[in-house]
Amino acid sequence: MLKIMTVFGTRPEAIKMAPVVKQLNVTPGLIPVVVVTGQHKEMLQQVLDAFDIEPDYDLSIMHKGQSLTMITTKILTGLDNILKQERPALLLVHGDTSTTMAASLSAFYHHIPIGHVEAGLRTWDLASPFPEEANRQLTDDLTTLYFAPTDLSKQNLIKENHPADQIFVTGNTAIDALHYTVSHDYHHDVLKGIPDDHRIILLTMHRRENQGIPMEQVFRAVRSVAENSPKLDVVYPVHLSPRVQKLAHQVFDGIDNIHLIAPLDVWDFHNLAARSYFIMTDSGGVQEEAPSLNKPVLVLRNTTERPEGVTAGTLKIIGTDYNRVRNAMEELLNDPVKYHQMANAHNPYGDGHAAERIVKICQQYLANN
Ligand code: UD1
Ligand code: UDP
Repeated sequence: MLKIMTVFGTRPEAIKMAPVVKQLNVTPGLIPVVVVTGQHKEMLQQVLDAFDIEPDYDLSIMHKGQSLTMITTKILTGLDNILKQERPALLLVHGDTSTTMAASLSAFYHHIPIGHVEAGLRTWDLASPFPEEANRQLTDDLTTLYFAPTDLSKQNLIKENHPADQIFVTGNTAIDALHYTVSHDYHHDVLKGIPDDHRIILLTMHRRENQGIPMEQVFRAVRSVAENSPKLDVVYPVHLSPRVQKLAHQVFDGIDNIHLIAPLDVWDFHNLAARSYFIMTDSGGVQEEAPSLNKPVLVLRNTTERPEGVTAGTLKIIGTDYNRVRNAMEELLNDPVKYHQMANAHNPYGDGHAAERIVKICQQYLANN
């Protein structure tokens, strides 16, 4: 029996690792061990509950307003004994958070091979997204098995001279997760107050490099459009980051058709996304999910590591400038041709069977090493 450890700590990692954990649990010959760092607390717990995952270890590191240094050092310290004790044959990480990078470094120190799920996403701009671009490049320098979601991410890894025979194009596990969650008879309390003939814009925004002036410009643009559109409602499940919470309430409190709500569990979020007219976000995961739901996305960033969605036509990179955001919103609301072009684009992120491929490749690797 071979032990495979998965390590994750934030909401998006948990959502996209959940299908892998589920697949490991039903694969004979493997002993899965789940470690959560607790980089997120409530937002992680929502995902663990939704997918019914009981971690074997929880480092519980979250601290209100935590710094990057705090996250990294606590994870290195916390994982040290666990890796010494458990000695997994392979350790799986996901994406580009500080949990991803610190867990990879810890595995490297313990001579444990790393499988990186969602490897090869790049902007090649270390400032954007910060610190995620550095996190994923550093992780890929330490990785043995690269699970690239698309051909393009595979090409990115090859450009950096990572060995081609260790890179596997699997699709993105975000699509696997969507297969669990979306249902046709969805109801949520927030929808009760919104008349059926209103359009819903789903908004999320949290990135560190957007906090401050860029986020404020976006929020003011959204407020201005909402105030002038009687049949429009904006629903914003606000990330628990204190800086984001403060600004969202400062700009949006008192506007009747802007609904600030707590982070939704992933079932609610995916179904609300499916019910929305379009989405505005700086989230990575949401950019991957929207094409499968046929929803246009205005990306509130200047760069994206997900150009496949831009090429497919679902994503439009609009940045954070007040006028640009306002104009892009007005265009989607008022130009049905533009809207339908974006809404009917093709999903470039896979067929929803990425987790099966990933686990099979892990098994083959372990059988031969
Ligand atoms: C982190 C990741 C980012 C990812 C995002 C997903 C890093 C450096 N950043 O950013 O890549 O896109 O998660 O959401 O790894 N908080 C709570 N409860 C929670 C979660 C967060 O109160 O369940 C608050 C805490 O005050 C915490 C703060 O949010 O200190 C920020 O959390 P942190 O993980 O440091 O950064 P994120 O912005 O969430
Ligand atoms: N999500 C969620 N509830 C919310 C907002 C987002 O479950 O209230 C999900 C969303 O569907 C996606 C993931 O969380 O799968 C994205 O997480 P986030 O935006 O925090 O991080 P990022 O993807 O930017 O790293």
